[in-house]
Amino acid sequence: MQFQKAVRPLRGEISVPGDKSISHRAVMFGAISEGTTEVTNFLQGADCLSTISCFRSMGIEIKNTPERILVHGKGLHGLSAPSAVLDCGNSGTTTRLISGILAGQNFSSTLTGDASIQKRPMGRIINPLTQMGASIRSIPENGCAPLAINSHPLHAISYLSPVASAQVKSCVLLAGLYADGKTSVTEPALSRNHTELMLKFFGADVASEGLTASVLPDPDLHGNLVRVPGDISSAAYFIAAALIVPGSEVLLKNVGINPTRDGMLRVCRAMGADITLLNEQNSGGEPVADLLVRYTPSLSGTVIEGELIPTLIDEIPIIAVLAATANGTTVIRNAEELKVKESNRLDIMVNELTAMGVSLEGTDDGMIIEGGKPFHGAQIDSRLDHRIAMSFAIASLAAETPTEILRAGCVDISYPTFYQDLARLQA
Ligand code: S3P
Repeated sequence: MQFQKAVRPLRGEISVPGDKSISHRAVMFGAISEGTTEVTNFLQGADCLSTISCFRSMGIEIKNTPERILVHGKGLHGLSAPSAVLDCGNSGTTTRLISGILAGQNFSSTLTGDASIQKRPMGRIINPLTQMGASIRSIPENGCAPLAINSHPLHAISYLSPVASAQVKSCVLLAGLYADGKTSVTEPALSRNHTELMLKFFGADVASEGLTASVLPDPDLHGNLVRVPGDISSAAYFIAAALIVPGSEVLLKNVGINPTRDGMLRVCRAMGADITLLNEQNSGGEPVADLLVRYTPSLSGTVIEGELIPTLIDEIPIIAVLAATANGTTVIRNAEELKVKESNRLDIMVNELTAMGVSLEGTDDGMIIEGGKPFHGAQIDSRLDHRIAMSFAIASLAAETPTEILRAGCVDISYPTFYQDLARLQA
């Protein structure tokens, strides 16, 4: 797919699709609750459709229409044994969260996913689940999927997680619903807290204090109405585009601004970006706002590290693009987790931005970007990673010559209408 330097500003209003993390959880928690869960603004991306299909395979009726999805939950112990291997597609969230639920069932299951999922580390969930007494193993014995999970009673644990990962935290908390006491997880830095907020909203006894979240077993979970906010990780591409294309002014409606997810906004502010939050509200425990983003001619470099990292982990590729256009040096540290996402996003961003003539250097856990100099287009392979494809589509708006993105269709994972929305804002 071909992209050109922007010849006119981005203007107009846009509602980005529903939040991916929240959409997954609404289906999962709806499935293990009693009664019906209605989900509006559900993300119809391939990842969330993988979650729907896994729960359908376990006997949960899910009606999916463009307006809403209805999940007819069967309670904590109502899932039935799947007749085939559960296919999590490209979705790490599906694989890791569902493993926590499956560990607590009285049936055996096997789950797998695409080539990328089969390379991603699952030891990070196999270890705590094994400590809880679960029977879970990597079938190829390399710490990756396919995973085989057998029925075994679960014990409560207090888990000190080596990584700030909401997928790990959520997996352990979900298994904790089936354990014999209070299960807690302490992280090195706070990761997104959608599981804690939504489980509580569905009736679980969840407590959060500092870096520790805990859950009591055997709650009465009730179906609920979940209004999914727009995904800040999807909004991030248009925030960056509006900031870097001269004359732009874009209103992004109804975007989730949960403080465990809003690192992109904090970084943009530190770079001097013109972003105003309007109409701030609360939607089912999740804060949302409209974001008015205006072209900012002199963005400046910044330092991104430490506790900020988990709050913007999926936005680092587009932040790297923004940094390439900003004056001065941007340093990204403590971001080694990026190496084990859908692709090795650290290496790919460094290699492909270098191919576009950006001056940057990869480090063990991040990158150092010398921004503010002109760069050119290149041929970029997405490696089937949706966030790589979208980041380079936006980079191309600032590049002096055309860019070609190979395998650009992978945006289907999290933002199926991304290219149409980008074209609409440029019309
Ligand atoms: C997610 C958590 C993050 C994020 C992923 C979605 C979630 O992964 O990168 O896209 O929904 O819990 P980690 O928790 O492994 O960092």
